[in-house]
Order: sequence, then C-alpha cells, then structure tokens
Amino acid sequence: MQFNSTILGIESSCDDTSSAIIKNGKIKANIISSQDVHRKYGGVVPELASRAHQANIIPVIDQTLKQSETAVEDLDAIAVTQGPGLMGSLIVGFNTAKGLSLSLNKPLIGVNHLQAHVSALYIEHEVVFPMICLLVSGGHTQLLLVEDHFNYKIIGNTIDDAIGEAFDKGAKLLGLGYPGGPQISKFAVLGEPRFTFPDAKTKDLDFSFSGIKTSLLYFLKKELEKDSGFVQNNLNDICASYQHSLIEMTAKRLIKSIQENSPKSISLVGGVSANLLLRKITQEIGMKNNLPVYIPSVQYCTDNAGMIAMAGSLLFEKGEFLSLDSLPFTRS
Ligand code: KG4
Ligand code: ZN
Repeated sequence: MQFNSTILGIESSCDDTSSAIIKNGKIKANIISSQDVHRKYGGVVPELASRAHQANIIPVIDQTLKQSETAVEDLDAIAVTQGPGLMGSLIVGFNTAKGLSLSLNKPLIGVNHLQAHVSALYIEHEVVFPMICLLVSGGHTQLLLVEDHFNYKIIGNTIDDAIGEAFDKGAKLLGLGYPGGPQISKFAVLGEPRFTFPDAKTKDLDFSFSGIKTSLLYFLKKELEKDSGFVQNNLNDICASYQHSLIEMTAKRLIKSIQENSPKSISLVGGVSANLLLRKITQEIGMKNNLPVYIPSVQYCTDNAGMIAMAGSLLFEKGEFLSLDSLPFTRS
C-alpha cells in the first residue's frame, strides 16, 4: 500500500513510553523507554507506570523528532493509542497528543492498540489477504481473520488469562523476574521439555491459560515436598516444559484456524511473538501449509510507537480523525 503522510505516533498503554515518526510508510525513528521500576514488584504497578510515563514522554518525543530530523511543522497528524490499556497510563500519552494536536493545529488520530499490533506487520511486509493473524501479548491472545488493511474479525479469543500473563505468572512462581516471558525463554533454551502440563478444553478456536499456571503451581508444590532443591536443580527443564506446553496449546489452535478458514497467509504479532520457539513453530506451520508467514522484527513485537504510527498512517488515508473531547478507553 502507498502512503503519503508524516505521522508522529505515541504509545503509553502499559509500561513502555514510546514515540515514532513514520514518513510515507517508512519508520524514521522508534524510541522506546521501558520502565524498570516494576521489576521488583513482579508486575506492572499502574500508579508507578503513570508517573514514569509523565516523566518520560516529552524527552522521548523530543528524541524521536531529533533522530528522525523532523520539524513539528512537517507533521500531517498525531496518532496515539486510545485503548485498550491502563487508564492512568493511556491518559498521559492521550493528553500529550491532544495538546500537540491543539497547539500545532494538526489532526488527532486515535489508534486501537490491538489493531496497531496487527499494523506492525505492514511496516516490513507487503501482506497477502485474507490472513490469519495470531495476536499474543500480555493482555490478549486472539486469532484474527484479517480481510484487508482496515478490517478483521476475531475468530478465537482467550476465555481467561492471556498467554503473556501465563508466562509472567509462571516466572513469578519460579522466582524469576518481570517480564517473565524473556526470563522463561532464556532458561528454556538450555533445557528439555520432559514435564507435561495439560491443555484446557475450550470450544472452537478459544484459548484458556489460567489452568496451566495452576498446574505448574501444584506440580512445584508436590516436587518441592520431596526435594527442596527441585526448582534450582531443574530450572532449565521446568522452563522448557512450561514454554513448550504454552506454545503447543497456541499452535494447535492456529493450525485448526488455518484448516477452517483457508487463508492466503499467516502472521504472528504482539509481545510474545518475540519468543524464538513460537517464531520457529509458526514458520514451520506456514511451510507445512504452503503459506507465506509474516512476523515483525523484535523491536515491533513488544509495545512500540512504530506500530501506532503505521496504524495512524492507515487511518490518515481514510480521514478518520478524533475530536478533542474524545477519551481513552480501557477495554476492547
Ligand atoms: O505486547 P506487549 O509488549 O504488551 C501488551 O500489549 O501486553 O506484550 C508483553 C508480554 C509480556 O507478558 C512478556 O512476558 C511477553 O510479552 N514477552 C515474551 C517474550 N518477550 C516478551 N513472552 C515469551 N517470550 C518472549 N521472548
Ligand atoms: Zn501490546
């Protein structure tokens, strides 16, 4: 698709403060400031996230404009995550974008964070539609049937936790840091998946990840009663097994969605798509089904404003702008 616009993208829905510049569909800068303050709490603390966004947002935007050599007068619009996310976090980015829009007299574009994860694909790929997209993040796990750049429908969804949450909660049970996904995968590459954690029964293409976290909890309790050094002595294998089970549960539903919908391509997006095993297995599924596979490079998988700027470029083409009395939303 051809674009003819310069857009500033702003993302602050959770614990990453990010801004990006996209010019005619090409990313010129994508600055991400991740918040370390949550690490010691084993999860995101909303109040601390809002405060850190408040401190970071102007320096991040400033750096983005400088790095991309963009003057504010050159911007055609300001695109910002409107939701879903944490309200206190969203407000910081949203109100900053509103202020810029008002003072610079540039249109404001509201971006859905999930649609932006899908739009991350269009930064580096010319996509063939219809496409099945597996969206895996800290807040969502969905299978999407993407009809074109603007339209998709949800054909599978989690009925409880998201896969990223299962990684994060599993890591917490194992005494590993936050975010848990990168921690678990780091130990998993050194181990063998010799323990099994059962899949949940769900209907159609739905996912469920709350049971596997509980089965990890009971498994650890039982083994620790027999041997108090069990976790330390078997950490690599436990991580490999837990990761393997999570990915197998996800891959099974991706395969089923391909069989049921006969897409022309498949893709993987969202923070958990940074996982190397999931990337490899998705590539293999594409190969077996003779379908092209699109996966963003890692900087566009976890939360970033590059994907917001790309989604903004699409909405700019459509002329879809927000009025200044619009509000952020927390749920999709
Ligand atoms: O998309 P994202 O940055 O934020 C949300 O929109 O939720 O996703 C964050 C999630 C976290 O749960 C984190 O543990 C997970 O992505 N994650 C990973 C990896 N890198 C990040 N999960 C598994 N393996 C990874 N390498
Ligand atoms: Zn996200």
